[in-house]
Amino acid sequence: MRKTVLITGACVNTGVAIVQKFAAEGYDVVFTGRSQATVSEMEKSYRAQYPDVHIRGYALHSLNEDGSVNEQAVEELFEKLDQDNISIQVLVLNAADQGLNMKIFENPLQDFQRVLNTNVSWNFCLCQAAALRMKEQGGGSIVFINSNTAYRSIPDRIAYVTSKGAQLGMMRALALDLGKYNIRVNAVLPGMIKTNRWDQNPEFYANVPSRFTPLGDVAVGADIADAVWYFAESARNTTGAELVVDGGNTIQLYPQIPENK
Ligand SMILES: NC(=O)c1ccc[n+]([C@@H]2O[C@H](COP(=O)([O-])OP(=O)(O)OC[C@H]3O[C@@H](n4cnc5c(N)ncnc54)[C@H](OP(=O)(O)O)[C@@H]3O)[C@@H](O)[C@H]2O)c1
Repeated sequence: MRKTVLITGACVNTGVAIVQKFAAEGYDVVFTGRSQATVSEMEKSYRAQYPDVHIRGYALHSLNEDGSVNEQAVEELFEKLDQDNISIQVLVLNAADQGLNMKIFENPLQDFQRVLNTNVSWNFCLCQAAALRMKEQGGGSIVFINSNTAYRSIPDRIAYVTSKGAQLGMMRALALDLGKYNIRVNAVLPGMIKTNRWDQNPEFYANVPSRFTPLGDVAVGADIADAVWYFAESARNTTGAELVVDGGNTIQLYPQIPENK
């Protein structure tokens, strides 16, 4: 039987690479993005790339207009999949609110909560809905796309950094509670990934990877997708685990300053 993966936030950047990896390996794919127009466009593009794979996109926003978590939309998505006899074997929680430019003395609590609502509470709803079905199916795999910022902070990202730390706690708690149902829960921790934001800050990217990663380079989406694939398909006896994919960024203490010659 063909397996199906559900990947959130898969219309751009890392999510696209994860769709491509699973589709190329013969999985059927369900993916989400926030805008129906973009989802439809990407669905068309994925179907053209992988004509033998069943690929369906759904517009799914984490939040209601008042900022509360849109639990109902998650329920509706899974009910729709049930009606269409689509069962999810692998859930990849890739979508995230990046919480950029969050200033400790300027941003109100509401901004902080917005990021936590998406990156933690909404993902909880997705895990709950998926795990309920995986339990009935006899097992499954949940993979969080987390971040090495769960361990080491970056400036003006307090909500994001907090959310990624919280996500790791949730990952371990889920791994413990769901292990008895043969549902494995793990996390990939990227460092810097080359996204479409890459070119917006050439000074940063010209200097930071070379000085702050032993490998002197950052990940591309496919590197993250390979790590997700490992947890989904190869790691039969692994749950509650973290796989850091950051060029060694986390283990390096001092920047490597080029010598003046
Ligand atoms: N980029 C990095 O350097 C980096 C480093 C470490 C970890 N990560 C992690 O890797 C994952 C992917 O990163 P990325 O940079 O590829 O992501 P990205 O370019 O910021 O894309 C994020 C995706 O999440 C979706 N999304 C954002 N807010 C949402 C919301 N409120 N409700 C539903 N969906 C929402 C977006 O939907 P739309 O398509 O509708 O915009 C988009 O598809 C994230 O979990 C991120 O935290 C990234």
